[in-house]
Amino acid sequence: MIETIEVEHAYNKDPVVRGVSIRIDRGITLFRGPNGSGKTTMAKIISGLLPPKRGTVLIDDVDIYAGDNKAREKLREIVYIHDTPVILKGNVYRNLTYGLRIMGKTNYTLLSELIDRFGLKRLVHKDAHELSAGEKQIVSLVRGLAVSPSYLILDEPLQYLDDERRREVISYLLELRNEGVTIVIATHEQDLMKYADKIFYIKYGYVEET
Ligand SMILES: Nc1ncnc2c1ncn2[C@@H]1O[C@H](COP(=O)(O)OP(=O)(O)OP(=O)(O)O)[C@@H](O)[C@H]1O
Ligand SMILES: [Mg+2]
Repeated sequence: MIETIEVEHAYNKDPVVRGVSIRIDRGITLFRGPNGSGKTTMAKIISGLLPPKRGTVLIDDVDIYAGDNKAREKLREIVYIHDTPVILKGNVYRNLTYGLRIMGKTNYTLLSELIDRFGLKRLVHKDAHELSAGEKQIVSLVRGLAVSPSYLILDEPLQYLDDERRREVISYLLELRNEGVTIVIATHEQDLMKYADKIFYIKYGYVEET
């Protein structure tokens, strides 16, 4: 379970997140709301990437910004995938294994399954910077999925994908939901609403559950 308690954030002097206290359980949770309303900011705050100016973020009752061993262990269970795919130097395979390598994981079985499932086999030797936008998005998604996170936070994960890829990604997310993964998606996609267990509407730093 993810819980935020009176979380506030500002990048400069303008408040972007204003006293947000929410609870996110297992299943699929959406962050919706207008451009610039704070969805990406909230997604990064609950992922451990952006310490809020005030307030607390608990994951399974662990304060993820405490800076201690318990927090470090908990952070290893979270994967955040950026809205603009992050592509590293080198070929696609090197990109796909990056998450596993930095976490010191040696089990590549899931990665191989995901490579097959998302049709990446023909791309593994290609320079990752030469990929199309949708290919980059799938690569950055699979890189995160391969570490088998308990908490998966996705920022606009479908934006560059074709219809078939969208269906494949959604069907995989539904499988993860059945396995008990907590999935949070910041998105404008109407299509995803029917799969959501919970929707938070974010409006200029304030959050309402709908
Ligand atoms: N690095 C930053 N420095 C300064 N201001 C920022 C930064 N990142 C975001 N902001 C500001 O914070 C506010 C919220 O931005 P955020 O990216 O969280 O919105 P969003 O809801 O994800 O929008 P979108 O729908 O366009 O993705 C915006 O006003 C934005 O200008
Ligand atoms: Mg955003």
